[in-house]
Amino acid sequence: MSITIKTAEDIAGMRLACRLASEVLDYIAPHIQPGITTKEIDRLGAECMAQQGTISATVGYQPPGYPPYPGALCTSVNHVVCHGIPNDKPLKKGDIVNVDVTVITKDGWYGDNSRMYLIGECSIAAKRLSALTYDAMWLGIQQVRPGAHLGDIGHAIQKFAEGHGFSVVREFCGHGIGKVFHEEPQVLHYGRPGTLEQLRPGMVFTIEPMINAGRREIKEFGNDGWTIVTKDHSLSAQWEHTVLVTETGYEVMTLSAGSPPLPAFVTATAT
Ligand code: MF3
Ligand code: CO
Ligand code: CO
Repeated sequence: MSITIKTAEDIAGMRLACRLASEVLDYIAPHIQPGITTKEIDRLGAECMAQQGTISATVGYQPPGYPPYPGALCTSVNHVVCHGIPNDKPLKKGDIVNVDVTVITKDGWYGDNSRMYLIGECSIAAKRLSALTYDAMWLGIQQVRPGAHLGDIGHAIQKFAEGHGFSVVREFCGHGIGKVFHEEPQVLHYGRPGTLEQLRPGMVFTIEPMINAGRREIKEFGNDGWTIVTKDHSLSAQWEHTVLVTETGYEVMTLSAGSPPLPAFVTATAT
C-alpha cells in the first residue's frame, strides 16, 4: 500500500465532500450554547447531512478491535481528547468542546474536519489552549508543499505547542483520506524536520493536532471502547482540516462561509 495521488476529477469530488463537512459545523455552530447536550448536537449534524444528501462516516464505523461507533459525529468535552460519544449531559458555561464531522458524498468521497467551541465565558487557560491549538494546526498546514517532508509538519506543531508549555498527543494522528476514511499516510503531530515521506502534488490528508494543557499521556475512559481522556485530567483541544498538496503549496479543502478567520500569520504570507 502507498499514498494515493488524487486526479483532477478526484480533487473535484474531495472539494465538495470537504466543503460539505465544513458546512455541517457551520450549521450546528449557532446552537452550541450553554444547556445544549452533545446528543442534540449530534442530531443537528445528522439533520444537516440528510439535507445535504451526505451520510456520516462515523455511524457504525468499526475499526479492528473497536465496537461500532454510535454517533453521527464526535463531541469531545474538556479533558476528553477525542472520539467522545454524544450523550445527554448539557454543556455548561466554561466548557470547551471539539466537534468532529466526517461526511461521505454520493460519489463516495470523504471530508473530515473539526473545530473547538467555547461554551459561554471560558477561563483564560481554556481560551488560550483552543487558540494556540488552532495556530498549531495552521503552522503544520503551512509546511505543506511538494518536496516537504511529513516530519516538517509534525515538527512545526510540536515545537510551537511545547514552546507554549503544552504537550502533543502521540497515539492519534492525521491521515490520508479519499474514498477511504483513514488511508496512508499517518500524519504525526510531532517529529523532526526532513524525516518521513516527501509530499507530492495530489496527496490529500488531514492535520488534526490534539494538544493537552498538561501531560501528553492519555487513557481510555470508561468502557465504551472509544472515549479517550487525558490521564492527568488536564484540558485538551483539537482542530482539524483536510489539506491537498498542490503544485505550489497547499489547499485547505475543509473551508466554508462559517470557517473561523485564518490566523494573521497565514493571511500575511498567503499568495
Ligand atoms: N473524525 C475522526 C478523525 O479525525 C475519526 C472519528 S472515528 C469515530 O479521524 F468513530 F470515532 F467517529
Ligand atoms: Co475528524
Ligand atoms: Co481525521
